[in-house]
Amino acid sequence: VKITYVEPDGTRYDVDAQPGSTVMEGARDNGVPGIEADCGGACACATCHVYVDAAWADRLPPREAMEEDMLDFAWEPDPQRSRLTCQIKVTPEIDGLIVHIPEKQI
Ligand code: FES
Repeated sequence: VKITYVEPDGTRYDVDAQPGSTVMEGARDNGVPGIEADCGGACACATCHVYVDAAWADRLPPREAMEEDMLDFAWEPDPQRSRLTCQIKVTPEIDGLIVHIPEKQI
């Protein structure tokens, strides 16, 4: 499943993520900077925060309450586009997903 991570300076990382893993793991396992994932994917740290590309914001499964709460701790969350990558499952439906890494996480 192809996922593209984009740094604030425009550097792109095209990753082939395993179905069943998470968008956070796809970054971590492929050396994408800025997605620290301090809590290891437990939805408890907000360091895996990204801005989903505008074209994708409505195409992902909605946030659950826990993700919503934790996003309050992320740097400059955006009500439409902010997500925690550890809460986005890699499925064939998200092939081609583009996410933007927040400036403060680099
Ligand atoms: Fe900690 Fe996602 S890895 S909230």
